[in-house]
Amino acid sequence: AHQWQGVLREYADRLDVSEATPIVTLGEGGTPLIPAAALSRRTGADVYVKFEGMNPTGSFKDRGMTMAVSKAVEQGAKAVICASTGNTSASAAAYATHAGIKAVVLVPEGKIAMGKLSQAIAHNAELLQVRGNFDDCLDIARDLAANYPVHLVNSVNNDRIEGQKTAAFEVVEVLGDAPDFHFIPVGNAGNYTAYTRGYTEEAERGISTKLPRMFGFQAAGSAPIVLGHPVKDPDTVASAIRIGNPASWELAIAAREATNGYFGAIDDEKILAAQRILSAEVGIFVEPASAISVAGLLERAEAGDVPAGSRVVLTVTGHGLKDPQWALRLPGGGEVQPTSVPVDVAEIADVLGLSRA
Ligand code: F0G
Repeated sequence: AHQWQGVLREYADRLDVSEATPIVTLGEGGTPLIPAAALSRRTGADVYVKFEGMNPTGSFKDRGMTMAVSKAVEQGAKAVICASTGNTSASAAAYATHAGIKAVVLVPEGKIAMGKLSQAIAHNAELLQVRGNFDDCLDIARDLAANYPVHLVNSVNNDRIEGQKTAAFEVVEVLGDAPDFHFIPVGNAGNYTAYTRGYTEEAERGISTKLPRMFGFQAAGSAPIVLGHPVKDPDTVASAIRIGNPASWELAIAAREATNGYFGAIDDEKILAAQRILSAEVGIFVEPASAISVAGLLERAEAGDVPAGSRVVLTVTGHGLKDPQWALRLPGGGEVQPTSVPVDVAEIADVLGLSRA
């Protein structure tokens, strides 16, 4: 029986891998593209969700990490390093340990989701909590990689972008062409850049006929690209994209221009409302940062930017189980309290409002 071979083997002809590349894979990629009828109904568009939470460590980072760690090992690296808001650290830790090398991860202290912190520790990373924000962590990781024997696996490493572009190949393969619009969360803007590159290569090869308009979204409290200047103390519930000075800023601006794209900002309440719509109406549970794709679509459709019948793909980047607390939060504040019942059929039927058939 066929088993998906991971993105380096599946797309060997589209990536810089050779016989000499030791392929470090956990079977990433090949994620589902799910038709989302509830979102199509709400917007009048034809909406699909690329569920990247289905990757081995629960986020899209695995596509780039298989490439970055494989190339690092090919080049003789014994240790990789990254700064992270959580998902990159989980992925780097898993791929490094699978390859038998060490992962050093720098995370902003107290600012990453528990699930992600747990993953990095479970996968045996050397995890340091830096008393600063993500941007401070990235500055330090770059400095260490430039001056010490540790290989940088943040998305400033082009191998990461190369691996991540494979998601666009998968979308085109399933739809038979590129979509009209692609909605995606933006932190460092590496993934926005990667999809644009993937779609561009598909069009250049004549596999697709067009580029989608790339619509990227930042959280309102953390929206440097939208504002046009770095944000010193970025803040949002979407901890994955709490980034004030995106590493791929210039590449993202070029990608927006090439695709007639858009960058927008979404406030936290709308992010959480969109997370709820996706989980309760579509059946896909994502972390808050990922839900910004949904919020962005709802906002832009309402504004009249997305013509009826447009084919729309939303990338949702990370699994909801990484940061589940938000699902239990009530919109006005407070926590959902699941109803407690005794071991009694009649009483439970009563609570459920069921009457005997
Ligand atoms: N969504 C999730 C769930 C993420 O973890 C990230 C980035 C993004 C979106 C944004 O992607 O940076 O390529 O624009 N997380 C990084 C990390 C910063 O360290 O895990 P981007």
